[in-house]
Amino acid sequence: LAVPPVDQLGRALRDLRISVMDRCNFRCPYCMPEATYHEGFRFLGPGERLDFDEIEQVARMAAELGVAKIRLTGGEPLLRPGLPDLVRRLSTLPGIEDVALTTNGVLLPRFAPALRQAGLRRVTVSLDSLDPAVFAHMSGGRGDLAAVLKGIDAACATGFEGGVKINTVVQRGVNDAGVPDILARFRKTGVTVRLIEYMDVGNRNGWDRADVVPSGELRARIAARWPLEALPPRYRGEVARRYRYADGAGEIGFVSSVSAPFCGACSRARLSSDGKLYTCLFATAGTDLRALLRGNTGDAEIDEQLRTILSRIWRHRTDRYSEERMCQPELRASGEKAFRQEKIEMHYIGG
Ligand code: GTP
Ligand code: 5AD
Ligand code: SF4
Ligand code: SF4
Repeated sequence: LAVPPVDQLGRALRDLRISVMDRCNFRCPYCMPEATYHEGFRFLGPGERLDFDEIEQVARMAAELGVAKIRLTGGEPLLRPGLPDLVRRLSTLPGIEDVALTTNGVLLPRFAPALRQAGLRRVTVSLDSLDPAVFAHMSGGRGDLAAVLKGIDAACATGFEGGVKINTVVQRGVNDAGVPDILARFRKTGVTVRLIEYMDVGNRNGWDRADVVPSGELRARIAARWPLEALPPRYRGEVARRYRYADGAGEIGFVSSVSAPFCGACSRARLSSDGKLYTCLFATAGTDLRALLRGNTGDAEIDEQLRTILSRIWRHRTDRYSEERMCQPELRASGEKAFRQEKIEMHYIGG
């Protein structure tokens, strides 16, 4: 049996985030700014993306090495034809306990029931504002707020076992003033809102630290209106710090990769839609698995090689980008730009 690998910092491999589609029907300026992702941008073609057999094969080997949680992302994963079929294959793999989806929500009314039937346990919908003008700006003029809200309703009505969450990327002076509106809307609904510090992923969003609202500041603002109580992490290295409303109206989370990095227990590997494996959201390079998957050796041989490669990559891993960023005093000054260039882009790696 395969021995679960541990990386150079003692971290196990537990999560696999799979980007199934690099395209998106939104153009959020912090992720896919229209200036870059215009009509002439060359996205991956269908033949360049891993097919479901290939994704399943990588996931099966990853599961043998310790992966128990899979998250499907994009771009927009629901643009990938037949996604429920992939969910079914992944959720029945030995060792996989949890399959989740991160989506912009627009296509959920169409797909939520089939996804649940296929075994999807959890859905997270991105929603940055309830103000139509701010929402339009933050989705690059492509998003329709009413459609996203319908998508969230559809997910709630479908009744996913692990629940529905909202991801809100907070940018100072853009949508931070509207955060209480989002919280007010989802209090008492069972939907958990997670407030995400704007991160310097990729190189194309013009990230500037001055645009980040540190979670501590945001939490103080929220607590002044609705007192909050800290909750213990559900697992070691949980991405979001959880709080509950003292009045019992539910819980919220803060994802603070800029002000309070959580690399220490990071157990996540990422697979891009064209089959490259990355060991950090801020990586500059990945390892191509597609050539191996498409080679003309037999499946058993490919499995064996995959197992060896995945294991080796993970054992050599030293990534801790967010902590490194935090440790560079000159990079903590206000107005700082991202400190590593040529990182992979969010829409490609899936967040
Ligand atoms: P749960 O399984 O529900 O805890 O989900 P999650 O928080 O892992 O996933 P989600 O896709 O909802 O991510 C929320 C935010 O955290 C997104 O902005 C992600 O890009 C960010 N995020 C997730 N994992 C990492 C990570 O390993 N490093 C950093 N820096 N950010 C991450
Ligand atoms: N900073 C923080 N979060 C981001 N996301 C996309 N780009 C960024 C960024 N630059 C979020 C999306 C989605 C999640 C997977 O990542 O809104 O909810
Ligand atoms: Fe699309 Fe999500 Fe990126 Fe927005 S953040 S452009 S919805 S992938
Ligand atoms: Fe993991 Fe890299 Fe994020 Fe740190 S910055 S938590 S190592 S993905």
